[in-house]
Amino acid sequence: MLPPFGCFLFFEIVKCVNIEYNVKIDMGVSEMKRNVISFMNMKGGVGKTTICVNIAGQLAEMGRKVLLIDNDPQMNASQYLLSASEIEKQFNEKKTIFSLYRSDVDYDFNSINGSEDEEGESESEEIILRNIRNNLDIICGDLNMTRVRETTGSIQAILENYITSNDLKDKYDFIFIDCPPTQTIYTMSAFFASDYYILVIKPDYLSSIGISLFDKMVVQYNKHRGKSEKLKSLGIIANLMQKGNDDYHKTKISEIKDKFKFKHDVFETKINNVGAIAKSSENQKLMYETRGSVRSIKKLTSEFLKKYEGVNN
Ligand SMILES: Nc1ncnc2c1ncn2[C@@H]1O[C@H](COP(=O)(O)OP(=O)(O)O)[C@@H](O)[C@H]1O
Ligand SMILES: [Mg+2]
Repeated sequence: MLPPFGCFLFFEIVKCVNIEYNVKIDMGVSEMKRNVISFMNMKGGVGKTTICVNIAGQLAEMGRKVLLIDNDPQMNASQYLLSASEIEKQFNEKKTIFSLYRSDVDYDFNSINGSEDEEGESESEEIILRNIRNNLDIICGDLNMTRVRETTGSIQAILENYITSNDLKDKYDFIFIDCPPTQTIYTMSAFFASDYYILVIKPDYLSSIGISLFDKMVVQYNKHRGKSEKLKSLGIIANLMQKGNDDYHKTKISEIKDKFKFKHDVFETKINNVGAIAKSSENQKLMYETRGSVRSIKKLTSEFLKKYEGVNN
């Protein structure tokens, strides 16, 4: 459950950046393409990363150009898609998400890679690792992100400013942001950068509580955005459906559908708990390459596209 301090921190951060944000809206940011989508939930282990990576991979396979930003200090999306040596290379060359934050934050200089800060690269597209698969690029996560300490009120806009100043919305069909389950500076940063979010849930009691809390955060946040700038839900994706638990999960899903019908669409496509999905992730294999999950990821991605095109046309 969300700690009260987390709520307090969130509201304070929103207040802090309000003035700066309104200035940006006046400058015409609101007319940009709306194709940045965050995968969120304040709960861990529900499959945010798995669903984010696999829809991104499937879209890329279908010919859409996708950038995946690994915004979680646990960097699971990077581990899913890259080998250990590829990650190490990005890390050594300082081409990770941390380079966006390093110049604006105070952080522990005994950082994980043992080196001190160097400025200059933070706004560059060089941190994007290109074509990890056809049409799929990534900004690698970084464990150092756990050491970021906020020092300025503008840090929340770092990701958004990076996307804007490099025209990334125009260069990609979709930009996906994989988010941590914590209410931290990274989540705030993703809020600012995103046009839409998708909630990934496990169909159980705790998930339905989590959705209500999350909705409150979004309402508060949107109060401070311009009218056309609102962060909107693209829907809820139910993952880890247990076959043996079918009735319980089905009941939970219909309760969630009913309770949140004015806020969220629940995707018709549900993803079952399939051992092969977890196993494949260890070998950088995506669902479309894994027996038993090809059909479901294709179906989920088509539904994603339909929903996205529905709200964008
Ligand atoms: N549909 C699924 N079937 C089987 N295992 C899954 C499925 N979705 C996720 N997992 C596994 O569950 C664990 C948590 O998933 P992950 O995507 O990392 O969650 P989150 O990003 O929400 O913390 C991982 O080990 C992942 O491989
Ligand atoms: Mg994750």
